[in-house]
Amino acid sequence: MSIPMVGEPRDRVDGRAKVAGTAKYAAEYNPPGIVHAAVVPATIASGTIRAIDTAEAKKAPGVIAIISHLNAPKLNQPPAQGGGNPQQQRPGSAGNFAEPHLIPFSDDRVHYTGQQIAVVVADTIEHATHAAELVKVRYNEQPARIDMNALRNEASDKASQQAPPLTKGDPDGAFASAPVKVDHVYRTPYEHHHPMEAHSIVVVWDGDHVTLHDSSQNIFAVRQTIARAFSIPRENVHVLSPFVGGAFGSKGASWPHVVVAAVAGHEVKRPVKLWLPRKQLFFTNGHRPETEQRVALGATRDGRLVSVIHEGISQSNAVCEYNERFTRPTREMYATPNMRVRNQIVELNISSPTYMRAPGESPGMFALESAMDELAVALNADPLQLRILNHADDDPSNGKPWSSKSLKECYSRAAERFGWSRRTPEPRSMRAGRWLIGQGMASATYPAHRSPASCRARMNADGTAVMFCGSHEMGMGTATVMSQLAAATLGIPAERVRFDYGDTDLPPAPISAGSMTAASVGTAVYEAATALKKKLVELNNGAEVTDYATLLHAHYLPSVEVQVDSKPDPESEKYASQAFGCHFAEVGVDPDLGIVRLQRMVSAFSGGRILNEKTAHSQLLGGIVMGIGMALLEQTHLDRRNGSFTNVNFGEYLVPVNADARNIEVILVPEEDPHVNPIGAKGLGEVGIVGVAPAIANAVYHATGTRVRDLPITLDKLL
Ligand code: MOS
Repeated sequence: MSIPMVGEPRDRVDGRAKVAGTAKYAAEYNPPGIVHAAVVPATIASGTIRAIDTAEAKKAPGVIAIISHLNAPKLNQPPAQGGGNPQQQRPGSAGNFAEPHLIPFSDDRVHYTGQQIAVVVADTIEHATHAAELVKVRYNEQPARIDMNALRNEASDKASQQAPPLTKGDPDGAFASAPVKVDHVYRTPYEHHHPMEAHSIVVVWDGDHVTLHDSSQNIFAVRQTIARAFSIPRENVHVLSPFVGGAFGSKGASWPHVVVAAVAGHEVKRPVKLWLPRKQLFFTNGHRPETEQRVALGATRDGRLVSVIHEGISQSNAVCEYNERFTRPTREMYATPNMRVRNQIVELNISSPTYMRAPGESPGMFALESAMDELAVALNADPLQLRILNHADDDPSNGKPWSSKSLKECYSRAAERFGWSRRTPEPRSMRAGRWLIGQGMASATYPAHRSPASCRARMNADGTAVMFCGSHEMGMGTATVMSQLAAATLGIPAERVRFDYGDTDLPPAPISAGSMTAASVGTAVYEAATALKKKLVELNNGAEVTDYATLLHAHYLPSVEVQVDSKPDPESEKYASQAFGCHFAEVGVDPDLGIVRLQRMVSAFSGGRILNEKTAHSQLLGGIVMGIGMALLEQTHLDRRNGSFTNVNFGEYLVPVNADARNIEVILVPEEDPHVNPIGAKGLGEVGIVGVAPAIANAVYHATGTRVRDLPITLDKLL
């Protein structure tokens, strides 16, 4: 293969357009005659709508229509996200409606605070927003289910197919008789994704054809969702999403506003723009649900795990199909003869959770890796040595061999760079002036998936090539690495290749999520470029082509094209494939005020082939910064009286700023993986955040002697 193990650190091909402001995002489309929509959110958590009084709103300036369940068209049930194994999901044939049990405006029931119960269409966004506030809704309120702890007896295994309950050996017996054990409960709070670009959509109907300018991680599923909802062929639905200003999972499903905007445009027969205000993003576009997790670890006196138990609950609701599968990493992480994992959900009257960067893995590894640190303390062992001792040489959940695994090299390179050997084990034993210094570490892992994807490759007569694939670019560097990959395969400079994406008129691509774009789309691009090259060699009577332009001119061809439909090889299922890594964190804690400062961090990762050293580094760094937020800052407070989130703005929902994210060093450990997929890339979008929170929590314990088992680690928990 002519592709280098570590791809050239090229700048982003879309960087200039983004910096110069010429990149056009969904809300910036203004087709002639456009009107604006604003939604009316429910103000109760549970009950029915008794009456909607629109008299005053209708008289407000600029109002064109007010649509609710009282006058909305009947829609079909939009299809849910294809569950289960992403490798079996065919792009373009599955929908992705976030709330498959709640068709917008279909009846009078209210399932959660913030539910979109009406939409106002007006000539300007200001008029629409104003009139939406004049809509008076009266409810028959019913007792709401808000408190997860109080309802724990009703927990269920719903939607746990990506990490179903698993029991191996005799976990309880082995735990009971283990000479050394830890058994604690860990909690993670509600968190919201908050991409910089708020969810927005422009819908343009033309008879029974519709164009959607969306901000999406899954345009083909949006197409299917809208086609099904409105009973039109999916060829009639054109979804475009060329730029996505961040998503982190929150744009992987079609949220109600997509359907609501389509309904609005359909009813008023004008192009409609729906641009959700930041506050509403806290209620109807997904979040990481709160979790409560028990981790029990039993070990021999020399530190070998004999039992791993990880079980608990997270919030979900009756209208979505989401389970925060926090036990998923535990199945794969450490060698143990006895294990039980089970993640259950409790249905509450709270808005729908969804995948948020490393869903499952981030909260799950906070619990597991905190527990491993507690076990190291109980054993009087070094936390790193404990992990090396319990390294899983094959997948503990199913015994499959790893397609590749370089975790031990990640440990040794990061530990050496960090200076772990100079750490003194006793808590409160390291100081810098009056600050307590603490050092902690944790492991990271995320599965390497691949979905089917198609790509059309074209060589133009001028020797430039274009790769067409309806994938997405939400900041990961996809457009850049795909151009590089095609160029390396064709043997031409990367500047001569363009990657066209973000449009359902292009060959189908899967959801850009689950860290599988590099593997899925990358393999399709690689295979299409390989097929194109083969076709051009054939055109050249079997001889190697040194100059594609000359070849095409000689044959009077304006271009040559091939298309491939790339599918995972069932052979790869014989292996377990995961990206792995680790974090070493140093914190300073003010002993009087409890303020935690992350001083430095060294993290190392192995994710197979690195397609572009620079964008890979940025992906991992972004994940780490988000992990710092999870560890120290992020929490959406729930008002347990009424099921409403309270700190619904950036003044009160805190995310890291540059001063919170200093001295982060990322080490890329190149890894040759002959089995995972033809390009050997595992994906790095999510593994970066996994393990950050426990590494910092473990460092805080080392600094202070205080073990914080509920995130985020705020100063009140240290005083
Ligand atoms: Mo990701 S949370 O799979 O976009």
